[in-house]
Amino acid sequence: MTQHLAAPAHHPTSGTHTGWWRDAVIYQVYPRSFADGNGDGMGDLAGIRDRLPYLKELGIDAVWLSPFYASPQADAGYDVADYRAIDPVFGNLHDADALIRAAHELGLRVIVDLVPNHCSDQHDWFRQALREGPGSRLRERFHFRPGKGVNGELPPNDWESIFGGPAWTRVEEPDGNGGEAGGEWYLHLFAPEQPDFNWEHPAVQDEFRSILRFWLDLGADGFRVDVAHGLVKAPGLPDIGGSEQLKLLGNDVMPFFDQDGVHEIYRSWRRILDEYEGQRVLVAEAWTPTVERTALYVRPDEMHQAFNFQYLTTNWDAQELRGVIDGSLAAMRPVGAPTTWVLSNHDVTRHATRFANPPGLGTQLRDQGDRELGLRRARAATLLMLALPGSAYVYQGEELGLPDVTDLPDEVRQDPSFFRAEGQDGFRDGCRVPIPWTRSGSSYGFGSGGSWLPQPDSWGELSVEAQTGVPGSTLELYRAALAVRREHPGLGAGDAVTWLDAPEGVLALARDGFVCTTNTTGADVELPVPGALLLASGPVAFGEGAGGGTVVLPADSTAWWAV
Ligand code: NOJ
Repeated sequence: MTQHLAAPAHHPTSGTHTGWWRDAVIYQVYPRSFADGNGDGMGDLAGIRDRLPYLKELGIDAVWLSPFYASPQADAGYDVADYRAIDPVFGNLHDADALIRAAHELGLRVIVDLVPNHCSDQHDWFRQALREGPGSRLRERFHFRPGKGVNGELPPNDWESIFGGPAWTRVEEPDGNGGEAGGEWYLHLFAPEQPDFNWEHPAVQDEFRSILRFWLDLGADGFRVDVAHGLVKAPGLPDIGGSEQLKLLGNDVMPFFDQDGVHEIYRSWRRILDEYEGQRVLVAEAWTPTVERTALYVRPDEMHQAFNFQYLTTNWDAQELRGVIDGSLAAMRPVGAPTTWVLSNHDVTRHATRFANPPGLGTQLRDQGDRELGLRRARAATLLMLALPGSAYVYQGEELGLPDVTDLPDEVRQDPSFFRAEGQDGFRDGCRVPIPWTRSGSSYGFGSGGSWLPQPDSWGELSVEAQTGVPGSTLELYRAALAVRREHPGLGAGDAVTWLDAPEGVLALARDGFVCTTNTTGADVELPVPGALLLASGPVAFGEGAGGGTVVLPADSTAWWAV
């Protein structure tokens, strides 16, 4: 395989900083659910490659691919057995190479998912560590410890897995050589099939630097770094002591998350990326207690972007939104990094369904709620997001207005957290249902061999085919919004917004030559016309007010204006 380091041409950015990623719209592809090229019911790299023209036409700048590596799929590929191989279910390295090349030819960048906190229990290193037994040097690459209690029958500390249950699993030692105390325990912050690496170990550090180079040589434009806040654990792995432990999407201070030691790792990675042409980027999936802590990951010599989960978890409420927008911009400004915005991903209930439900229910919902309301708000929320300075993430299928699938039968579920939490949590399969491409046919065009999770009957009408060319459809709204964003490069640029006076429940923000108005209330709101209408998520109506032209912004809608 040859190297191809040349990257697509940059599109214009403004402000004091440059870099394609500063205002990029990045589309998350969840490979198993995007498009199935070989008809086995599971999406794959060939399927993604076939659909690249669709993504180009949608108007995004880059694609982030969730993991496609060799993996037993205990956590949908976030359990990696070989970081330099593609899982056969997704294809092979030639497919990856071809996909990256084809994307580059279209001017799209490709960000791959890197999973450094843990690997699969089928990774060679872990299997060797198990075989070698207690005290072996190969065990030092993970966190093996003797248990507590008379016979080591208790876990080494009180940490709980984010997926439920203890964060430790006891092993059966080869030939019973664990001695009187029995088998050791190993740490896994996620499923037992995902042992945590010991990042104090030089071999782990070297290995990941080499993996970075492998994918950079293959042409990857960057990495989304999984659990970026988790690699370093507090010395001595201290007990937490409390009973309330962290959930996947929580943000408490924990001895296994957001330790200061992680930053040195990212500095060393950044030096590697900077050796390559074409502005390769690192994106942190870092759940931290505050947006200020998140900003530490994107200091000038570390990563380029971090997901803004504070924004994702904000309710549909003007005041709350304004607070988080201001807070996010203020936190990133001192480090000179762009803010990012995200509403949906493969770990949370799709925003069309979150906004269909009452606020405060979290990010793992089990109810459809009021679907019409949810879609209306989702469309408005997307236009607001795309009007903010910085980079925005779009999760596959949100451009179709897909709701979460909340009624999957338990027997088809695959999310390991569903099983670890005994069906009380872990509803992530609902946002992972393969997306519909056509009105009818096998799995609505996802592939010729059905789909690994059942799609609702109503999904034909939400398909790409059904929405293409239909004025006002959610797909056409996204296409139009992304086109306007390209024509007005000022939209994503900079690090500030100007708030204009607006009635309660309404946000009005100004950027260079542009105004965005968002009505988060459930009633129409009449405003003076801010400018020339560019785009609206709902039907705006113009009238004559006392002081000149007015516009009626419908409930739960956003409009963009050129001024
Ligand atoms: C975050 C990923 O987004 C999620 O899907 C995964 O289960 C955990 N990290 C563990 O890798």
